[in-house]
Amino acid sequence: LANTAEPSDFSAFRALAASAADAFEVPEGYRAHVIAGYGDQFANEDGTLTYGFNNDYLAYFPLNGSQEGLLFINHEYPAPFFQHGVTNAANKTAAQVQLEQDSVGNSILHVKRDADGIWGVVSPSRYNRRITGNSPTLQFTGPLADNAAYPGIGETASGSLANCSGGITPWGTALSCEENYQDYPGLGWDQARTGTTDYVNGNGSTLTSPAKYGWVCEHDPYDPSFVGRKHTALGRFRHENTAFRAVADKPFVLYMGDDVNNGGVYKFVSDLRFRPGRREENLKILTSGKLYIAYWAPQSRRTFDAPGGNLTSPTGGTGYWREVTEAELVDTNARIAASVGSAEFQLHYATNRPEDVEVDEDGTVYIALTNNSTANDTHGSIRRLHEAGNDPTAVGQGAQFTWEDYAAGGPTGRPGTGEQGFSSPDNLTFDKAGNLWVVTDISSSVLNNPTNPNAYHRNNAVFMLPRSGPNAGVAFRFANMPLEAEATGPYFTPDEQTLFINVQHPGEETPNRGGVYGTVETYTSYWPKGNKTTGQNPSKPIPSLVAITKLPDVETDPDGDDTP
Ligand code: FEO
Ligand code: CA
Ligand code: CA
Ligand code: CA
Repeated sequence: LANTAEPSDFSAFRALAASAADAFEVPEGYRAHVIAGYGDQFANEDGTLTYGFNNDYLAYFPLNGSQEGLLFINHEYPAPFFQHGVTNAANKTAAQVQLEQDSVGNSILHVKRDADGIWGVVSPSRYNRRITGNSPTLQFTGPLADNAAYPGIGETASGSLANCSGGITPWGTALSCEENYQDYPGLGWDQARTGTTDYVNGNGSTLTSPAKYGWVCEHDPYDPSFVGRKHTALGRFRHENTAFRAVADKPFVLYMGDDVNNGGVYKFVSDLRFRPGRREENLKILTSGKLYIAYWAPQSRRTFDAPGGNLTSPTGGTGYWREVTEAELVDTNARIAASVGSAEFQLHYATNRPEDVEVDEDGTVYIALTNNSTANDTHGSIRRLHEAGNDPTAVGQGAQFTWEDYAAGGPTGRPGTGEQGFSSPDNLTFDKAGNLWVVTDISSSVLNNPTNPNAYHRNNAVFMLPRSGPNAGVAFRFANMPLEAEATGPYFTPDEQTLFINVQHPGEETPNRGGVYGTVETYTSYWPKGNKTTGQNPSKPIPSLVAITKLPDVETDPDGDDTP
């Protein structure tokens, strides 16, 4: 993350205009290539594996620099309409429920660039692996594991689900965040799977039961025998992602957001110190420590007098970190709100749906506050937090932070140049040239609404925002998603010659817009095999993993005599 002004292959491009085409669009000079999509099969030495649905987070773990590596990928949630056509949970067969359970969790894919620079999956490979909604067994760690006071948790969980975004650790593991775990009883998984409901929130109506899901999970992509872990010390909430700050011989710090309207921003500070190179010790770091929630002054939420109206809240202030008690870990948001009082929670802890949190190399914490209808915040913002003394391990009395809203969503920018503003920021990443990359997640129901306040924005997109210079904070549009898709998981290879993007839920509104399962002409996106806008090749939309690479510079004067 060196902010060295070193030119990135992805920092100089001609920005795209907004688009409503059913296509994955990149600027001239770049190429977007699908590596894998839902249903694709790959193999390891034990057999065949199927790539899951709704890919979200991804991270690249090198095997051979930026030419060959492992992609750790989240599959967030199933979509019964697209997978088998039965949307009423009561009517699903056991096999249909099993298909859904097998389609979530994580994929570990061995990938490699060929001689033409095209990425593909290496198969068979011993590294290729799936973690699904019910296998393998993951181990609980931390204060609530196998603790009689929290009887719904126990020692282990079967599989992982609701894996939204995630993070990496400096000891070479991947963290995967279980986010909307409350949705699964509604899919009919509880009856079908165990006959009990204790693994998730009972009937889903309250968030007060101990449970097997809603945790940050840790996996080692390099080691197929590694037993995944669920870390109770990091709390149980709608975990979006993790972003670490690691200093040798200091406690390890992990920032996290609770992606729900009026959710909080959290920080974990480990009991153990981070020791570079001492992997076995570092693997214990997330098992014990203290969790804190940000207290924001003068108020935590960015509020407006009406949707699209005038801002009624300050754009900066101060804050501190309030310790989360052990009893609050199990249902973090609700129990803190109960403890401090809901009015106090709303005023000083609640934020506008924190999606990704990322730490810049100078220690600044960037938080994507995506939007919040209860605060009339239609377009969201990106907030920056600066720890007092730049020391994130100092907490409690006197340990303050300052914050400011760095970039606001909305139809600003410079129309006509492709620089129209972003809206509903979700995942974030940095490049070496010092730019912030932002992907957007405007919900498809909003995009399809005739009175859509995001009409200027059109399809979801990938933006680059310089953090300094004359264009600081301007959103340059780098890529457009196909219809009704969200861009997720932006991740650069170490050499920044490749940007991986996951395309999630193309055509997701099909069942709400009269679409018929199996009648492909009725699907609201045909991507990636066809194009709804042009009518070419009607086909079922497929959530897919894409690699964007720069095309070789065109040699216009190969003999150097100044004539083309
Ligand atoms: Fe699954 Fe917070 O997005
Ligand atoms: Ca997200
Ligand atoms: Ca989102
Ligand atoms: Ca999503």
